[in-house]
Amino acid sequence: MTGLLEPRAIGRGLTRRDGPAKVAGTAPYAYEHPAEAPLYCHPIQAAIARGRCLRISGVEAEALDGVRALITPFTAERLADTDDAELAVLQDCEIPFRGRVIGLVLAESSETARHAAELVDVEYETDPFVAELKADDPDLYQPDKVNPSFATDTSEGDLETASAVTVDQTYTTAMYHNNPLEPHTTTALWDDGVLTLWDSTQSVHSVRSTVAKTFGLPAERVRVICPYIGGGFGSKGMPHANVVLAALAARTVPGRPVKLALTRQQMFSLAGYRTPTIQRVRLGADRDGRLESLDMAVVEQTSRIKEFAEQTAAPARMMYAARNRATSHRLARLDVPVPSWMRAPGECPGMFGPEVAMDELAEALGIDPIELRVRNEPEEDPETGLPFSSRHLVECLRTGAERFGWDSRTRGRRDGRWLVGSGVAASVYPAKRMPGSSATIRYEKGRYTVEIGAADLGTGAWTILPQIAADALDVPVDSVDVRIGDTDLPKATVAGGSTGTASWGSAVVAAAEAFRDKYGSDPGDGDEAQADTPKNPDDKKYSTYGFGAQFAEARVDADTGEVRVSRLHGTFAVGRIVNPVTARSQLLGGMVMGLSMALHENSVLDPRFGHVVNHDLAEYHIATNADVEDLRADWLDETDPHLNPMGSKGIGEIGIVGTAAAIANAVHHATGVRVRDLPITLDKLLPGLP
Ligand code: MOS
Repeated sequence: MTGLLEPRAIGRGLTRRDGPAKVAGTAPYAYEHPAEAPLYCHPIQAAIARGRCLRISGVEAEALDGVRALITPFTAERLADTDDAELAVLQDCEIPFRGRVIGLVLAESSETARHAAELVDVEYETDPFVAELKADDPDLYQPDKVNPSFATDTSEGDLETASAVTVDQTYTTAMYHNNPLEPHTTTALWDDGVLTLWDSTQSVHSVRSTVAKTFGLPAERVRVICPYIGGGFGSKGMPHANVVLAALAARTVPGRPVKLALTRQQMFSLAGYRTPTIQRVRLGADRDGRLESLDMAVVEQTSRIKEFAEQTAAPARMMYAARNRATSHRLARLDVPVPSWMRAPGECPGMFGPEVAMDELAEALGIDPIELRVRNEPEEDPETGLPFSSRHLVECLRTGAERFGWDSRTRGRRDGRWLVGSGVAASVYPAKRMPGSSATIRYEKGRYTVEIGAADLGTGAWTILPQIAADALDVPVDSVDVRIGDTDLPKATVAGGSTGTASWGSAVVAAAEAFRDKYGSDPGDGDEAQADTPKNPDDKKYSTYGFGAQFAEARVDADTGEVRVSRLHGTFAVGRIVNPVTARSQLLGGMVMGLSMALHENSVLDPRFGHVVNHDLAEYHIATNADVEDLRADWLDETDPHLNPMGSKGIGEIGIVGTAAAIANAVHHATGVRVRDLPITLDKLLPGLP
């Protein structure tokens, strides 16, 4: 592999370049993109879970002053490509889930559009439907692969080996919705045969290729722009129906911009979500705590119209040494919205069951939970047999324990009416570099400009790409500008899978090297070089992951069962940290989201109607400042030489991974009550409190 960069700008805690514009309110988000005399769209959603619409009457709606059009399956443009059924909206009258878009109103104001949408009268024919995930669903099936392309099942050795100590439990994680602050929004303009989309997305290039394919347009006639994003957590990683709707609407009014913003409630059926999971975990160990067998069988859901199979059991394949191992995924195809990516799909729910099971095993053995994990640390990746490019899980556990004060913990400590306990869990997340990005570097009047169509979700790309370029060019970071978030810039892969920095950064470094090769260190105005993300020659030689350990202190009110997480500390080994300010924010954000998952978040689907009942932020509870007390994220000094020239690993997702398990383990330590079903709410604790 090519050499590591000498870190000069890398490693500095530079503040966010996009900060001032965001704080001042001048950063143009997709919906606020200035547009002359725009029309506003409001989607109409099906009010039944399965069936079809027979008739859509817009007489009253269309009579409203300011309504320009009602687009329905009867009147909408036929799309060129309908292979992706989630995106093939308004193409037929079938309703595959409650909330499917069956119409779209275009009006002079958003209020009018919304009012008109309510006046549209729909006549339905209903079919029986199933919207409830059940472990014993007779129609469970085995998908061909799980996200993105992992084997569905694995099996090695003999699972029936009798072990001295066993754990056999079933754990469940809830359905969760991503809920970024900025909803899914688009400003769209069809002008002169070119479609321009200012869209809130984690990948302008994915939106372009998807929309071009869907409408049968050459890619050059679709431009997607997205300089700023108010979060996505995966829900803006692949395009959803909203952007197709905005484009459809724009094409009915050439020359006139249209704006579409999903409401918070609409996001609960149109923007993806995390599948609920049912995880049976079986562990077998000898008396010394050495795992002999590890079996994880996952049941989860997908939608009738499009498969998304979460790789929930994937981390169990590589995490611990156990001679006999098996994992499986079974899916229920339900009449529900399409599940998708949500921060650490796979690892996040998939480490909950196993990391609580490890705590249960430690208890059964009378071994400290950290020691149990240390004893099962593999020499090499148990699944592939490859060496780890770097794996410092044990150091994370030990260093974290010291910083947290783990050794002084006492079971069942009481502080007035609070029962106090602490718990630990391990975290893992793949560290990958994706092929397919390209960067340009141009020199002009003493300044370098880096161009790459990357996305900054709020993660820090605006800030860290110049740091990487500066070190690769060997110039001060203040002399480097960056342009991102536009398909007119060189192609960039999605801000997803914690691969952004590694993938785009590698392209930037390659472009810098090409620039220096071409022009030396004394370039002239207009000098320019471009390069693609190089293949990583070490790619197939190592198993590549980031690791971490979360420690939680829980306080449970002995009378009410109220849970407070008074301390939450994470220690991570995630390669070289490019920018400690933005990195810490990523890790802390992940941990807060994990706390939220552990205690609050829960999309309650009513199986009688097929919709999420608590589909707004009043009832879908997300952790707020008051829930976060002593929160800390640290990292070890690690540089991985086998991944990318920065020596870095992705950090956007690992923070969430072990957090819920650490909290569940802490709650058990405090109360003696083992909650295996997230979220940990009072009703699950009260019957068992002392
Ligand atoms: Mo992340 S869920 O890979 O955008």
